[in-house]
Amino acid sequence: MRISTEGLTVRFGAVAALSQVSLEVASGERRGVIGPNGAGKTTLFNAITGDLAPSDGRVRLDGRDVSRLPSWRRARLGLSRTFQRSTLFPELTIAENLALAVRSRGGAWRFWPSRLERAVRLEVAERLAATGLAAVARRRAADISHGEQRALEIELALAARPRALLLDEPMAGLSGGERKAALERLRSLPAEVTLVIVEHDLDAVFAIAGRISVLDHGVLIADGSPAEVRADPRVQEVYLGHAG
Ligand SMILES: Nc1ncnc2c1ncn2[C@@H]1O[C@H](COP(=O)(O)OP(=O)(O)OP(=O)(O)O)[C@@H](O)[C@H]1O
Ligand SMILES: [Mg+2]
Repeated sequence: MRISTEGLTVRFGAVAALSQVSLEVASGERRGVIGPNGAGKTTLFNAITGDLAPSDGRVRLDGRDVSRLPSWRRARLGLSRTFQRSTLFPELTIAENLALAVRSRGGAWRFWPSRLERAVRLEVAERLAATGLAAVARRRAADISHGEQRALEIELALAARPRALLLDEPMAGLSGGERKAALERLRSLPAEVTLVIVEHDLDAVFAIAGRISVLDHGVLIADGSPAEVRADPRVQEVYLGHAG
C-alpha cells in the first residue's frame, strides 16, 4: 500500500503539532520517522490512520483520498498500527489476545465454524512460535514482561495481515536481545507490506529503514537515505547533535 500526505497540518490551539507535512511512502517501503520528543511523530500516525482529524491537508492510500474516511474504514483498506502505549487486553491470555486479532480479520466468516476454530488455533500456534511467546501462551497479558508485551503488540498488528503497518516506538524499553528479536520479526514481513516505524533507537531505525523522514516541531526537515539524513546539518543540529 502506498501512503501519501499532502500539506498535512494539525493544530492544538496555538501549537502546530504538524505543519504542512507532505510525504510519499512507496508500496513495500521500509520508512523510519525520527525526531525529538514532541516533534509530531505520533500526531502524523494519528492523522494517517484517521484517529485524528487534521486541521488541513490530505491523506491518500494507494492514490485514493481517504481524508474523510473514519479510522475503521482505513483499517479495512489494510492499514494497521500499534500505539505508543499498550493496547493489549490485560485480563486475556497471550493466546486469547492473538486469537481475537486473527478472528477479527475480515474474511474469516467464509469458513465453516469448525474449520474456523481449527484455522485460528493453527495460526495462533504459528504466531506464538514466531515470536518466542509459546512458553507464556496461557499467561494473562498483564502478567508477562514488558518486552513480551511489546512483542505481542507487534504480532497482533501483524495478525491483521496488513498492507501497511505503522509502528509507534515498538522497541521502547526493550533489552538488546529483545530488540534484535523484534527486528528479525519485522524483517520477515512480506516484501509488499509497507512499514513506517517511529523509533528513538536510531540504530534500530537505520538497520531496518531504507529511507528516513525527520520531523522537528511539526515540520518535515529532512527526507532521504540513512546516509543523507546522517549527513544533513539541520538533522545533526536538531536531533543527532542531542543524541551525541
Ligand atoms: N491531544 C493533544 N492536545 C494538545 N496537544 C497535543 C495533543 N497531542 C499532541 N499534542 C502536542 O503536539 C506536539 C506533538 O506531539 P506528538 O505526540 O505527536 O509528538 P511525538 O513526536 O510523538 O513525541 P514523542 O517522541 O514524545 O512520542 C507536542 O507539542 C504535543 O504536546
Ligand atoms: Mg509519540
